[in-house]
Amino acid sequence: MSKPRIWVTRRLSDATLERAARDYEVVINYEDRPGTAEEIIAASAVFDGIIPCHSEHFSSEVVAQFSDRLKIVANHSVGVDHCDLPALKSRGIVVTNTPDVLSDATAELAMLLMLGAARHAVAGDRIVRSGAWDSWSPAFMVGKQVTGARLGIIGMGRVGRAFAAKARGFGMELHYFNRSPLAEELTQGAVYHDTVESLLGVSDFLSLHCPATPETNGLMSAERFALMPAGAVFVNTARGALVDEAALIAALDSGQLSAAGLDCFQVEPGGNPAFSRFDNIFMLPHIGSATGQTRDAMGFRALDNLDAFFAGKAPGDQL
Ligand code: 8YV
Repeated sequence: MSKPRIWVTRRLSDATLERAARDYEVVINYEDRPGTAEEIIAASAVFDGIIPCHSEHFSSEVVAQFSDRLKIVANHSVGVDHCDLPALKSRGIVVTNTPDVLSDATAELAMLLMLGAARHAVAGDRIVRSGAWDSWSPAFMVGKQVTGARLGIIGMGRVGRAFAAKARGFGMELHYFNRSPLAEELTQGAVYHDTVESLLGVSDFLSLHCPATPETNGLMSAERFALMPAGAVFVNTARGALVDEAALIAALDSGQLSAAGLDCFQVEPGGNPAFSRFDNIFMLPHIGSATGQTRDAMGFRALDNLDAFFAGKAPGDQL
């Protein structure tokens, strides 16, 4: 029997590509640029499955132009805001993602951003690197201490809980908002808040770990930043769409926020040029899950989902 034909839209890890080439007839985008709408539409006619990243957009307009061959979109990402799920499902196309395997890597990056934002990583690096470090005083680059501070987590899913576990090691007092409270063995003493507003009032540090959906679009607004304790630190490793970036700038300008750590932006790639004047924003280019170990695990998880589907079983991560 001939092997299913799969399109791998980006240059995934070597181990992933080797396994994909062993088990499928694959076409790999070694150029490693985002697949266009035209390419995705064309692929639906000549491939049985696609392994896309969040850089390929399966909008309802794109899906409406699909041919009938494509059977599965096995995402190499946990977030699926680049996919119109109802549109794909209405075409009978199975959609999967890669949960669990990137939780620790993303939580590590959230910790890096939180500590870096709180302790002037950008300004500190710049002053040493540029040779401008010519004095020292006890008042120099005084930051905000994490140990003992209150951490608010919005979205206590897998990544939120992985971040909570790391923050517990830093002696933080944990609070969270989630659509519903979680069992105590999952939250281990973190205090549940049944509204975002209530959580914000106790968040000396705040970290976002919820998906981008129409409901969470612009979740962090001017009104909500204003509810945080003065001088709070804001961290986002989830999605840029969750944040009103003009409101974030205003909160930093007014001192309502003392710093921010961002891995996600409304416009990606590129980010927001208006953030560049802030030494107290520690920014990274959407690399939350970018460790070698996690890239392999994400690729294998996408392939596990394909394997199950083509073996006639329900993929473990079917959405
Ligand atoms: C990935 C991510 O790098 O998995 C996600 O949802 O945002 C990132 O960690 C990216 O999506 C890979 O496609």
